Amino acid sequence: MRKLMSRFWDRIFGTVERQEWLDRVGDPLEAALKKTFDAGGPVGKKAGDFLHGTWFGHPLHAALTDVPVGAWTTALVLDVLDDTISRRRGYSTAARHALAVGIGGAVAAAVTGLADFQHLSARQRRIGLTHAMLNTSALVLMTSSYMARRRGNIDTGKALTRLGWAVMAMAAHFGGHLVYQQRVGVTKADERGRPGEFVPVLPVGELREDDPRRVIVDDVRVVLIRHAERIYALGEECSHMGGPLAEGQIVGDSIKCPWHGSHFALADGRVEQGPAIHAQPCFEIRIREGQIELRRAERGRELPAYASALPAGAPGAS
Ligand code: FES
Repeated sequence: MRKLMSRFWDRIFGTVERQEWLDRVGDPLEAALKKTFDAGGPVGKKAGDFLHGTWFGHPLHAALTDVPVGAWTTALVLDVLDDTISRRRGYSTAARHALAVGIGGAVAAAVTGLADFQHLSARQRRIGLTHAMLNTSALVLMTSSYMARRRGNIDTGKALTRLGWAVMAMAAHFGGHLVYQQRVGVTKADERGRPGEFVPVLPVGELREDDPRRVIVDDVRVVLIRHAERIYALGEECSHMGGPLAEGQIVGDSIKCPWHGSHFALADGRVEQGPAIHAQPCFEIRIREGQIELRRAERGRELPAYASALPAGAPGAS
């Protein structure tokens, strides 16, 4: 059974991912969204970060989708209770209220989903678009159900809720594929926690001021940065979509990703500007015999553990 289900879903998602005609809708939609947020300047940028969930430290869309899923499932259960226990206990009225909560949550989730849509790859956009179309259908069905109930057509309302729930469940499955299979919204930074012990990676004299340098240690990509008499080391793959931070720019006390412009604090990797949501992994630094050595830092350690002041006499140190 498990094999059968997995094959079934693989076939569905694989088929959708190959539907190039969906790009005729997805590509202009992505371009229009980008244009809209860009046109807003700094305010548009802030609005985009808010909708991505940069302030929240978690993708906002994923959190908000729980509202319609929970509320509409509640409505479905209340309908069953109304049908099986008693029609006089107010289950039907409660179901209508649950539908309204779900409708509000679905609209908020749709807005955050649109903001996220602008940074997807073509394959992800095809799945994302299908997910959005199914969710829109579910929203229309649930709104129609709510209206029918308001007009007293309870049985029609219940039928629409059942249909809407089935469509919503399908949409949720596509959302799950986007996150768990296509890794949208999860960190792209290397979180393997290596190396555990200090390893020499580069002679200190080879690292130039504000000129980020990629090193690979224990199979992990790390970016070394020398800035204002200190040396910092962060994970090199941007947590947003894996952009190469070694090709980024130093802006103030942060590094800017070359792909979509997220800023990460040099001191502790936290996101200072989105669209990234997740902090960059950090490495502890020490200098031994003219070599920069690093090891993976634990999250939440105090700032001095993440950086090493240049030793007196190091090339470029004042
Ligand atoms: S990859 Fe998107 S901001 Fe870095």
